Amino acid sequence: MTSTHAFWLAGRQATGEATFDVTSPWDGHLVGQVAVPTDAQIEEAVAAAHAVRDEFAATPAHVRAAALDHVSRRLVERTEEIAQLISAENGKPVKWARGEVGRAVSVFRFAAEEARRFNGGDAQRLDTDAGGQGRLALTRRFPKGAVLGIAPFNFPLNLCAHKIAPAIAVGAPIILKPAPATPLSGLIIGELLAETELPAGSWSVLPVPNDRMPALVQDERLPVISFTGSDTVGYAIMDSVPRKHCTLELGGNGAAVVLGDWASEQDLDWAATRIATFSNYQGGQSCISVQRVIADASVYERLLPKIVEAVGAQVTGDPSDSATDVGPLVSEDAAKRVESWVDEAVQAGAQLLAGGKRDGASYAPTVLTDVPADVTLSREEVFGPVLTVKRVDGEAEAFAAVNDSKYGLQAGVFTHDVQTAFRAHRALEVGGVIIGDVPSYRADQMPYGGAKQSGVGREGVRFAMDDYTYERVLVLTGLAL
Ligand code: SIN
Repeated sequence: MTSTHAFWLAGRQATGEATFDVTSPWDGHLVGQVAVPTDAQIEEAVAAAHAVRDEFAATPAHVRAAALDHVSRRLVERTEEIAQLISAENGKPVKWARGEVGRAVSVFRFAAEEARRFNGGDAQRLDTDAGGQGRLALTRRFPKGAVLGIAPFNFPLNLCAHKIAPAIAVGAPIILKPAPATPLSGLIIGELLAETELPAGSWSVLPVPNDRMPALVQDERLPVISFTGSDTVGYAIMDSVPRKHCTLELGGNGAAVVLGDWASEQDLDWAATRIATFSNYQGGQSCISVQRVIADASVYERLLPKIVEAVGAQVTGDPSDSATDVGPLVSEDAAKRVESWVDEAVQAGAQLLAGGKRDGASYAPTVLTDVPADVTLSREEVFGPVLTVKRVDGEAEAFAAVNDSKYGLQAGVFTHDVQTAFRAHRALEVGGVIIGDVPSYRADQMPYGGAKQSGVGREGVRFAMDDYTYERVLVLTGLAL
C-alpha cells in the first residue's frame, strides 16, 4: 500500500481533501500519492508568507546560512534514496539523477555561502559634488516580497533548489509549486527544511494543480514570480501580471557549432561523444540539450559518422539500471509529439540516420540531416532525444545559423581559437556561450538564462538573489568623510 505524501504548508506537514497519483513514465507503476492543498490551505500559506516577510528579511544571515548548509548536508546523506525517487517519478536514468542530487547539494551550499556575504552594503561618497558634502550613500538590497516559485518536471529536485535556496539566502518567503508530474522531489526539500529553525511561514511546498495556478499567480502578496517551463506558459504568466517581477527560464533549441579548426581525430571524437551524450541526457528533456549541430564543411564528413556511432552507443532502457543512458520521456504523449515532429521532417525530405522509433513513452536517440528550415523540428524546441546536423561554410555562416532561432539560451562552440571564442561571445544571441563543449554545460553558480524567447532574468544562485531583491539607498548626512 502506498502512503500519501503530505505537502508543506508554512513549514508544517498537511494533507488536503484530495490526492493525485504520481506514476513512473517507464512502467506506469505507482510511485506515490500526493495530497492536494485546498483553496483554504493555499490561502493560509500565502497569508503566512506575506505576514512573515519582515521578520524573515531581518533573520540573521548565520541562521539562514545554517539552514541552507543543513539541507545541503542532508541531501548528501540521502543521495541514493533521492536519486531513486527522481528516477522513479521522472523516468530519468538513475546515473543522471545521482548527478542532479549532487548539483542540488551544491546549490544549497552556494546559497549558504552567498547568504553570508550578501548585502554587506556598498558605500559611495557623495561629496564629489558640492551639494553632497558630508554625505555618504550606503546601498543595501532588500527582498521585493514573497516569491512564487514554479518548477518544471525535467530537473524535479535541482530546479526546485534553484527557486528556494536563493529565496532563503536573501530572507524572502517562498511558495514553491513543484511540477504535477514530479512533485515528490520538491516535497523532499520541504522535509529537509522542516528540520531547520527557519520561521514558520517562510516556506511552503504546495503541489497545486496547474488549473489552480492562475489564482496564485494573480495574488498581490506574491510580487515575485520565478517560473521555469515552456515559453507559452511563461509568457502567459508574465502577460497576466505585467506589474509583477517575473523571471522566466524558458525553452531553447541548443546549438553545438563545430568549426574548421576543431579537426583532429581526437577533437572530433570528443565533440561527437559530447554531442551524443547531451542530445540524449534526460531523454533530451533539458532546455540546453543539443538539438542542432552546425558543422563546418571541412569537418562535416568526418564528424557525422562519429556522431551517428556515438548516438547508437547510447544505452536505452530501464531508468533504474545504472547502465542506462536514455530512459523514457515524461509521458507517452510527450513521446508521440516528438514522433510526429520527426515524421513531419522526414516526410518533408529530411534524412533519418538513427532512431526515429517510439515505444510507449520511450523515443529512440535520433539523428537527422537535411532537415528543411520550415518544419516544426527546425523552429521549435523538441525536448526529446533528437538532433539535426547541418553543414555550413565558415564561422559567419555558422553563427548566423545559431541565431536563426526564436530562442537564445546557450550555444556551444568547438574551437581552439581564442579570437573565435571572443567573436562567438559577441555574435551569438544567447545567454551563455560554451567554448570547447556543448551548450548543455551548466555550472549552478554561474548566470543562467536566455535571450530572445528563452526568457528574462537569470538564475544561478547569486543572480537569482539579485532578482529577488531591490537596491535601497541610505543617505547619511553630516559625516566627516
Ligand atoms: C533547464 O532545462 O533549463 C535546466 C538545465 C540544467 O539545469 O542543466
